[in-house]
Amino acid sequence: MTIGIIGYGNIGQMITENLLKLNLVNEDELIISNRNISKLESLKEYYPNINITDDNNKLAKESDKIIISVESDDLLNVISEIKQNLNNTHIIHTCAGINFEDIENIYDGPVSLVIPTIASEFVESDNPQNGISLIVHNDNVNFIDSSKLETLFNEFSYVKILPDEEDIEIATILTSCAPAYIGLIVKKLSEFGFKHSNLDYEECKYLILKTLIGSSEVLLKDKINSDDNCDKLINKVCTPNGITEKD
Ligand SMILES: NC(=O)c1ccc[n+]([C@@H]2O[C@H](COP(=O)([O-])OP(=O)(O)OC[C@H]3O[C@@H](n4cnc5c(N)ncnc54)[C@H](OP(=O)(O)O)[C@@H]3O)[C@@H](O)[C@H]2O)c1
Repeated sequence: MTIGIIGYGNIGQMITENLLKLNLVNEDELIISNRNISKLESLKEYYPNINITDDNNKLAKESDKIIISVESDDLLNVISEIKQNLNNTHIIHTCAGINFEDIENIYDGPVSLVIPTIASEFVESDNPQNGISLIVHNDNVNFIDSSKLETLFNEFSYVKILPDEEDIEIATILTSCAPAYIGLIVKKLSEFGFKHSNLDYEECKYLILKTLIGSSEVLLKDKINSDDNCDKLINKVCTPNGITEKD
């Protein structure tokens, strides 16, 4: 089975690297297209059997499934461009803000929306699953294709299937935008630590990141509890008249 990926930016690259580094596909089963093909040259050097192109129609002709990860404003143009070479091909796109109705005006085949997160970037570790991928399918995606897609993304992320598009916008903020908010909080706390101590910036960042991981583990541990364990954690730290409460 050949998988085509159109758009080798932040997300296209993250998906490609996970597929290759976790051996989820063979190099020669992947064809990648990018508007500016020079972006793909180092990938080709590392994986000589991978197919690269800047011709989206060539990719469409040769692919059994196509992942499109271009800027959202370009998605409909790309689908229109390759439509003549789609043979009820399963289209999987990652473009936030585009709904199925917009696509169905151009292409009436099977389409899935996957909202990945940059938090799923490949990191060498025992558990390759990082971050959440949100998935929603249109009515034309059959059970086999939806299951295959969910299984694939589950290899490197935790998949959350949404029954319809209604909640996708808010869920996207929580999973796909949140790494930027978290990055900002970590940066601001590190700057604070650096400014007010003899620790350097990277040391401060390390302290916060390890604390972030530990706090996440504590909050995930007893998630089945009906009480909001965020409040429980806050109360355990904020002892009356302690430094957290005062500051
Ligand atoms: N970044 C995130 O964290 C994130 C998370 C979830 C969803 N998304 C969604 O995923 C999509 C991609 O985001 P991104 O951050 O990866 O964007 P990006 O870094 O700007 O990448 C877009 C890529 O698409 C290529 N491209 C544009 N038009 C093309 C065309 N007609 N044919 C072939 N390649 C084309 C661009 O090529 P050039 O190199 O020539 O510009 C660029 O490499 C967006 O719709 C975004 O909403 C992003």
